Amino acid sequence: MMADAPQPQARSRDPIGVFDSGVGGLSVLQALRAELPDERFVYVADSGHAPYGERDDIHVVARSQAITRYLVAQHRIKALVVACNTATAAAILQLRQEFPDLPIVGIEPALKPAAAQSHTRRIGVLATRGTLNSEKFRVLLASLQDQADFVLQACDGLADAIEQNDAIKTEALCVYFTRASGPFGIEQNCVDTLVLGCTHYPFAADILRAQVGESVIFLEGGAPVARQTRRLLAARSWLATEHTLAPAVVFGTTGDPSKMQAAIARWLHEDCEVQSLNIE
Ligand code: DGL
Repeated sequence: MMADAPQPQARSRDPIGVFDSGVGGLSVLQALRAELPDERFVYVADSGHAPYGERDDIHVVARSQAITRYLVAQHRIKALVVACNTATAAAILQLRQEFPDLPIVGIEPALKPAAAQSHTRRIGVLATRGTLNSEKFRVLLASLQDQADFVLQACDGLADAIEQNDAIKTEALCVYFTRASGPFGIEQNCVDTLVLGCTHYPFAADILRAQVGESVIFLEGGAPVARQTRRLLAARSWLATEHTLAPAVVFGTTGDPSKMQAAIARWLHEDCEVQSLNIE
């Protein structure tokens, strides 16, 4: 006899899995919680194997697969959000092949909204080397090439400096990479729109803002990812229908839980337990 397919109500109570190489995906989690306040989430920071952005695809694909297998097997997630541009570019196709029934939402640098908003038609893109060198990014860029000039900047070390909460290094790298991408402003030939193409970078937004000035528009991908997650769950009738008393987010890390706890307190202003995970 064939097993019955799970009822929509049964899946609606399951959590949504979210992962990143580290704490950067917390910027996406914020957007997810704002869009989907009744949902429960399991967040995995792969800080023990970060950064992803300067590693080869084989490493990033293997880590993305291992984390997704863990989330499916241990937490019965009903959807996955890959809250990392680098992992989306390297691994989302393989994840969709391995888990064809799992709704999977990835994140990509917000080039399309940038092209739609920029007046000077000169757009800065800060991202990891892995994202900028990926085939997925190449195709995205080619589709918009006639709409604007994109000034691409691989920000080696910046995600790691933010991950380590190294304020001096974060500031020095932000100064260096914005100088290399400018000039900024609303005048002709200036970059008037800056795409934060790595989920860690919104946590350096104030430092970047001090470099480029108030007139420059910053774009990140959290809110569109959250809306797409809602759409995919709604299409299956898998949205949470009631608020549960269970904790809204279960946090885990393959790195140091006390560092993750400090990052959550710093960025989300919450005091949470963080599980130590060994995902191989
Ligand atoms: N937060 C990740 C991204 O969005 C990558 C950071 C890293 O590990 O290099 O690309």
